[in-house]
Parts: sequence; C-alpha cells; structure tokens
Amino acid sequence: MTDRTGDPFDILIRGGTVIDGTGQPRFDADVGIRDGLIAAIGDLTEAQATVTLESRGKIVAPGFIDSHTHDDHALLSDPDMTFKISQGVTTVVTGNCGISLAPLRPDLPRPMPQSLLGAGDQSPCTFERFADYLEVLRRAPASVNVAAMVGHTTLRLMTMDSLDRPARPEEVAAMRGLVVEALEAGAIGVSTGTYYPPAAMAPTEEVIEVCRPIAGTGAVYATHMRDEAEGCVDSLNESFEIGRALNATVVISHHKLIGEANFGKSAVTLPLIGAAMKCQCLALDCYPYAASSTMLHTDEVRLRGRVLIAECEQHPEYVGRELADIAEEWKVSRLEAARRLQPASAIYFIMDEGDVRNILAFEHTMVGSDGLPGGTKPHPRLWGTFPRVLGHYSRDLGLFSLETAVWKMSGLTAKNFGLANRGTIATGHHADVVVFDAATVIDKATYDTPTEPAEGIEAVIVNGALTWHQGIHSGARYGQVITRVGRS
Ligand code: ZN
Ligand code: CU
Repeated sequence: MTDRTGDPFDILIRGGTVIDGTGQPRFDADVGIRDGLIAAIGDLTEAQATVTLESRGKIVAPGFIDSHTHDDHALLSDPDMTFKISQGVTTVVTGNCGISLAPLRPDLPRPMPQSLLGAGDQSPCTFERFADYLEVLRRAPASVNVAAMVGHTTLRLMTMDSLDRPARPEEVAAMRGLVVEALEAGAIGVSTGTYYPPAAMAPTEEVIEVCRPIAGTGAVYATHMRDEAEGCVDSLNESFEIGRALNATVVISHHKLIGEANFGKSAVTLPLIGAAMKCQCLALDCYPYAASSTMLHTDEVRLRGRVLIAECEQHPEYVGRELADIAEEWKVSRLEAARRLQPASAIYFIMDEGDVRNILAFEHTMVGSDGLPGGTKPHPRLWGTFPRVLGHYSRDLGLFSLETAVWKMSGLTAKNFGLANRGTIATGHHADVVVFDAATVIDKATYDTPTEPAEGIEAVIVNGALTWHQGIHSGARYGQVITRVGRS
C-alpha cells in the first residue's frame, strides 16, 4: 500500500523485511511514519522523508511489549528506560505480582515485595489515587509507553491494619472501591501476588470480591500464583476459577515450575492451560531464564538451592555474592544470613531448562521480562530478555520461527491486554517500531555482567520518535499512557 497524501514522512524505514507481529510470514516493504502513526507500508521508493533509515537486510517489527514488568517507579526515576529501549521494547505492562506504585499513602509501611518497586521506604514517591500516578506519567512521559495495572497487595497495604489474615468485609469493600477508581483512571487490570506474605492469607473469595469491578470491562486479572511448586496445579485451578467468576482474561504471570521435585511438570501444566483455554480467556507469560528473581525470602524452603544476592541496601558489599558464602563468612545459617541482609532481593536457580523451553515454545505464551530495575547486579532478564528470545531461543536453538518470536512479544500481547492499535505493523497503528539484525541480535547481559546492553537492535521508534539508534539513546521521551480498549 502506498501513501496517498504525498507529504514527506517523518521517518522512512527503507528496504527492510517486515515481520508484522501477527505471526504471518515476513515480506519486503518500506515503512513510512508520519505524525506518530504508521502512514504507509509498501514500495515507497519515490517518497521523501525527514529521516531515512536504510534497513536492507534488517527486520522491521512492531516495538516489543514487555508483558510483565516492575517498571512502575523506574518510569519516573529513570525515564529514558534504556534497559528496555535497548532491547526494542516500546511498551511496558506495570503493576504485576500484586504490587503497584498506586494507590498508596506516603505514611504507610512498604514491606517486601512492595519495596521491590524501588521506591524505598524513604521515597516520597507514592500516589494516593491511581489517577495521580497516570497523570504524572502523562505530564512527564518516559521513553516507553505504559499500560498499568493495580496491585491487590498494594490495596491490602492501603486498607488493612494487619496483613496476616483475610480481609474483613468492610476492607474488601474499600479495596473494591479503589479498584473502581483505578479502572476509571485507566488501569488495564488488577494483579495479585498470593505467593507473597502480605497477600498469602487472602482466600480465593477475597480476590474475587476485590476484583469484582473488572467483570465485563475488558480489564485483565493477572496473577503471580499462590504456588508454583508442588501446588502448581491447584494454583492454576484457583486462577481459572477466579477468571470464570470475574468473566475476565486471566494472565498467568511468569509461568514456571519451582524446585527439582517439580522439574518436567510443564508437561502437565501446559495441557491443563490449553484445555482451560477452550472454555475461558487465558494468557500466560514467561521469561527466558532458568533462574528467578524476587525478594530475599526468609523461609527455609524458599531458600533451598543456589541463591545470589541481587540488591541489598544494608550491605551493598554482598551484592553479587552467594547466600551460602555469606552465611559461612558470618558463621550463621543461610536463613539467619537472609534475615540479616533484609531488605534485599535475590536470584534463585530453581528451574529446569527443559521446562523453560517447553513453556516459551507453548503456542500461547507471551514474552515478559519480570525484570527488577535498580541495583548493580539485577537478574540479567532486565537487559536481556527480548534479544535472548530472538537470538538464543529462536535463531540459535530453533525453538520457534522468528515470526513466532516476534508475535509472542508484540501482537499476541497487545491482543491479550487489549492494547488498541499497537503490537502489529499496520497503517494507522501507532508507530512503535523496532529494526533489528536477525543474524546478530543477542543478549549480552549475564549473571556476572547483568547490565550489558544487547546487540543487534538497530533502531527503536516510539510513537513516531526515533528513540534508540545504533546504540545511542536520542533522549526522546514520547511514551504514552495506554488505557483499555472500549473504556468509556
Ligand atoms: Zn511475580
Ligand atoms: Cu513479577
């Protein structure tokens, strides 16, 4: 298709091969961008443009959508978002695992995992209303778009005086009111993290009643499930039940199977998810690593295996070291060492690579980084997830085609979260575009050098603004706040 107006384009991506994010085979085409939108796709040899990106031999794809992030605070404190832009990510979904930056009062304590968001206990950065958070993001945009969810754990902090019990009816009602406020402000869903202590005592019924307002709105229910180990099947069933009660899409966050006793069980969970999908709307995401990362736990079972300290405010000198070594040095148990290092986050080597590949390759799985911004030794997924799927899992291991890889990080994700006019290369869509070299794209972040930018990401365009080009951030901050399709 050519452009009828004949006006020059703001950006012309010339000579590239388009993988459009629908999963369909690639095709050669020029892409013209004007006024923040994809204006034309096709043979644009004659067209004029302010900026032309010669892209012969390169792939032109929709900007990647990170389906699972904890970038809520980073969007404000580190608005260039280089750790995402450098991977080709143009949109982040925030508010996962039950934790969001809003709504929260500044005087309230922020126990783990709430403090994982990086807005430390002393930070003035809290928002009493969800609308205030989105308003700040609109006034001072980051370099990537944001689609934000509200977290059930955060709502518990906001409404309950003690977290080690189910919410009382009046507390449930108060949380439900905050969900209504968040949805009206533009939240795209609610997340839970019943795996974590502050929400572990919330029964299924509490979750359903708090999330009730999302029914029929198109907002999603995303969950870091209660149990990803022995009880994984029960937790999947609980999540399905909640989704049915709410008549909402369930997003199973970072699907994985924890602990040696559960290795191989993706052979059970994936067919279970596939079967449930026949009766209800389900989605799932996965990061391409066999190690997880989250708060440093203080219970024996969750400290089993190899544990690396990722971030630690009290003892920065122990960041990057093994918990076992620290315990030995202090002549205490690992549990005691973990207690003394609080608050901290850690990396846990607790998954089977075979499960990771199975889950990633599963037809319906989206790519999501679950990256935790901040600190000097974060899990490498923060800087490496998307190029690693493209280069390592698709190209080098042949786990799936490049078209499938791109779809898992763009079109599929936009569809699951209801992000209108994003996630595919189509005329009239927002011009979120990445140009990359399929032959060289690869993650460079490792557990030792976790903040090394990926290679092979040539150019990243966000809402028509060239934001990353040949390894350099342009300083452009054109990210938008994305709200739900069909929101009244
Ligand atoms: Zn999580
Ligand atoms: Cu998460």
